[in-house]
This record gives sequence, C-alpha cells and structure tokens, in this order.
Amino acid sequence: MIKMSEYAKRRKQLMQTIGPTGIVILPSAREYIRNGDAYYYFRQYSDFYYLTGFDEPESVLILAPKRKEGEYILFNRVRDRDREIWDGPRAGQEGACKEFLADQAFPIAELEAMLPELLVGRESVHYSLGFDKTFDDILLRAVNNIRAKIRGGLQSPIAFVDVGPSLHEMRLVKSPAEIAMMQKAVDITAFGHIRAMEVCEPNKYEYELEAELMYEFHKRGARSSAYNSIVGAGKNTCILHYVTNNQKIVDGDLVLIDAGAEYQNYAADITRTFPANGKFSGEQCAIYELVLESQLAAIKAIKPGASWTAAQNVIVKILTQGLVDLGLLKGNVDNLIEKRAYFPFYMHKSGHWLGLDVHDAGRYNINNKWRPLEAGMTLTVEPGLYISADIPGVHKRWHNIGVRIEDNVVVTETGRDVLSKQIPKTVADIEALMAK
Ligand code: GLY
Ligand code: MN
Ligand code: MN
Repeated sequence: MIKMSEYAKRRKQLMQTIGPTGIVILPSAREYIRNGDAYYYFRQYSDFYYLTGFDEPESVLILAPKRKEGEYILFNRVRDRDREIWDGPRAGQEGACKEFLADQAFPIAELEAMLPELLVGRESVHYSLGFDKTFDDILLRAVNNIRAKIRGGLQSPIAFVDVGPSLHEMRLVKSPAEIAMMQKAVDITAFGHIRAMEVCEPNKYEYELEAELMYEFHKRGARSSAYNSIVGAGKNTCILHYVTNNQKIVDGDLVLIDAGAEYQNYAADITRTFPANGKFSGEQCAIYELVLESQLAAIKAIKPGASWTAAQNVIVKILTQGLVDLGLLKGNVDNLIEKRAYFPFYMHKSGHWLGLDVHDAGRYNINNKWRPLEAGMTLTVEPGLYISADIPGVHKRWHNIGVRIEDNVVVTETGRDVLSKQIPKTVADIEALMAK
C-alpha cells in the first residue's frame, strides 16, 4: 500500500504548480452497467487515484490552495446501510477525512450547490474538459452562475487549464513506493508467464493458457489484468493486439503471450514468445535470437540522459541488419533504415511509459525534441518481428513466425533495472523450462 502521506505530498506538489489562485477539479470514474443491474468491474481513474488513493465512484476531488476551511475537499457518497448491505462498505464523509486525509468532505449530492462558492475568486480552473460531458455541464453551469452575479462584485474564473499535463509530468517519475508496487505487479505476472510456458503443449487451446495466467494473477492478489491478455499461436502471433484467444495450438506453432497483472492499480506489461512443443525450429530460433539481441541492446541503451528514441534506434538497426543477414531484406542497411523497409516486419515503437496505466501518462516529446530519460521513469522495451503470410516475397518457411519480447524497465541513477528479469527469455532457458 502506498501511504496516505505520499498522496498528500502529491496534492501539495500539484497545488504548488497551479499557484494560489488556481483550483483543481477532478471527478472519479463512473460505474457502468453491463446489463440489467450488473456492473462492469469498477476501475478508478488513474489521475484521481494518484491524488487520493480513493477507490469509490461518484466522488470529486477539489484542491483549493490557501482556502481557509481546508485545501483538500472530497465530495463522495454518503453512508447508506441499505446499499452497503448489497455492495459493501463506503468511506462516507467521516472516512474521507479520517482515512483519506481530506480537510473537508461533503455528500456528492451537495456538489452542484457548492461549486460556485468554491470557484468564486479563483482565476484558473484546472480541469480536463471533454472527458466527462455530464461533469463538464455541471462545471460550466457553476461558472455561468458566477458570471450572472458579476454585478454583485463576484469574480468568475478567467482561464480553463487542462490539469492533465502538469499531473502527468508528476506521474511520469515514479517514487520508490510506486516502483515497489510495479515490482509486485511484475512478480505476479512472472508466475503467470512461467506457468503458461510450463503447461503449454500442442492441441491445447489459447484460452487454456490464458486461464493459467489468470489463475496466477487472481491467486496472488491481482484481481484484474492491466489490459486484455494476448495469447496467440501460429498466425495469431502476427496480430499485435490479438485477444480472441480461442484457437487450437498446433505442433510447430510459436505461442506469443502478452499479459500483465494489475496490482493496487499498477500495471505490468510483459511478453514472452515460445515454441508450443518446447523446441524452437531453425527459422523460429533465428528470428527469436534476432529480436532478443535487439531487445538486450535496447535495454542497455536505457540510462539517465539517453533520448527516448535511443532504444528504438538500436532496435531498428539490429533488426534491419538481421533481416538482411537472413535474406528477408536486400540492400544497404542504412538505405533500408532510411526507407523504413523493416516496417512490414516491425511496425510499432520500442515501448511506452508504464505505471498506473499500461500506456502510462507523460509526454514523449517536448518542444519537438524526444525527451531525455530520468531516474524513476518506467517503461517497456518490446521489439518484435511479425512475418505474416501476406508480406510479399517471403519464403513460406518463415510464415507465421511472430516474436515479441517485452520487459518492464525502470531508469535508475546509474542505468536501468529490469523488473521482469526473472522470466526466462533466452532460447536455452525457455527450452529448459519447457522440457521439465
Ligand atoms: N500490451 C500492450 C502493449 O504491449 O503495449
Ligand atoms: Mn504488452
Ligand atoms: Mn507494452
């Protein structure tokens, strides 16, 4: 668990960024009906969770720097014995203050009536317009309400500022407590990947391996995945976001699993590729070794000060050279890179930020320059090669070989730490695990 004092520190930092005349308004996620009276699994918005640690729907956070009655105001659900019998306990206003350190808490039903007085005299409203239409309307009604009373001397806000960018810059650099949560998500995920490799054999179905992953995730305290698991065999290894997971795994197939647990709202995002029968064929091995070489080199390129694109540049270079060596591309390596000739085989980026979201918040580019890495940033490194049968001019012995290798990496003061290093990824280690 991340301590409540850490959430308080984050709120203070955000208030310092917006200044004493600003106000932050951040609604929670909503509950959505699946059908009848059954709801989808509730997942709190990451921005809201990052500032509150509060996991209930129908809540709104307000940060009003220098407000004398208190700077951190939470609007949330009231205690309700009837509802709590069905759905479980609620913090209520008392819990919001005692457990979640709100200075003041009010029933969510009072929000609309109270918003104008909270907004009066605030010059800038830090709110992400456009995400929640219903809440946009509530907020704009409150602002209009003040505008209508301007002759009474009230001052309505001058600027609407997207709270996203400043908040996301904070989220981008992880604290030690956050890195510990991510390590836990990765450790749980590791059990799942290893188990899937151990039990895999031809004639099982893709969903049977998915079940092994989910068993480990759930058993170890991750009630949810960070995203829909990708379990593809054979030609499905070449579909980047394949989630149907319903085909039979055939002898001679490769199997690609891209799956990550979510632990205390923190994501892991890990991919391993292995032979269904436990032994890589010659062609599979050649492609696998090439992707692995590029991945290891890309991980090495990650360190403070290195550009965000350093990993991708290394990957593109190694993969292109390797595709030439294997006869899958022809020509001069630099020219091929220039022409992006690798693109039919490798059509994505080297990775992405990782954190509360699998594709986590934070900019990659500042003032048209790829940003340098800093200690505490956490990212994936995930090169791949996907030789689908419809790439023209490729001999069929290479067809349906899709390989991706994805690890989770945190930038440290001196280099990088691979959070997922315990999951086998050399040909020898994978074959040894599967032979057991
Ligand atoms: N699992 C989605 C991704 O690797 O980005
Ligand atoms: Mn992934
Ligand atoms: Mn990823």
